[in-house]
Amino acid sequence: MERLISDLLDFAKIQSGTLTIEKSFKSISSLVLGSVELARHHAKQKKIHIRTEIQPNLPELNCDGDRIIQVLSNLLSNAIKFSSEMGVVKISVSVNDGSIFFSVKDDGPGISEENLPHVFCRFWQEKKTAKLGTGLGLSIAKGIVESHGGRIGVESQQGEGATFYFTLPNGEVTHSDSKKNLESEIQLEFNC
Ligand SMILES: Nc1ncnc2c1ncn2[C@@H]1O[C@H](COP(=O)(O)OP(=O)(O)OP(=O)(O)O)[C@@H](O)[C@H]1O
Ligand SMILES: [Mg+2]
Repeated sequence: MERLISDLLDFAKIQSGTLTIEKSFKSISSLVLGSVELARHHAKQKKIHIRTEIQPNLPELNCDGDRIIQVLSNLLSNAIKFSSEMGVVKISVSVNDGSIFFSVKDDGPGISEENLPHVFCRFWQEKKTAKLGTGLGLSIAKGIVESHGGRIGVESQQGEGATFYFTLPNGEVTHSDSKKNLESEIQLEFNC
């Protein structure tokens, strides 16, 4: 119930443009390890192995650490929730084209081509697994990543697992600049 209320509040803030982002420099490995720690119990229950692959010598990231842990936790919790027992979830971070590139890859059921465009839409859930959540996690993750000037996406084929990824600018980008670039691309990809 607490989680539902806080998700609804976060979603309302994102929609009304009032989500506050409090940035400071954070070590990337501390963000990853923080989210893995939160997922540990859930993963253990399903005997799922979480692997991390963090490129050495990554710079510190100017971000809202709690919010980025929230994004990673949602991606990790989905990867664990929708996978079968004994699966493997891999969380990787690297520098790519001047941005920091995060990905969370699972070997679960994957997402069909038909459903892929809907996953970031509020309340959207695949019918078979709809009882496992409220369908807000990915739309909140998208809002948080975009508020940092980043972008989020997914690659998947049914039966072959899913890889959710997001990028965050490595350095200072003004919110309005990054928003302009993102709006056109993201509206095309995720037409809710
Ligand atoms: N790793 C994944 N593998 C397969 N399907 C996924 C995966 N991640 C998300 N999905 C699909 O996308 C839907 C939306 O995900 P989202 O995180 O927004 O909501 P949820 O997990 O159902 O609920 P909530 O996160 O609010 O508790 C999921 O219900 C599921 O159908
Ligand atoms: Mg979720």
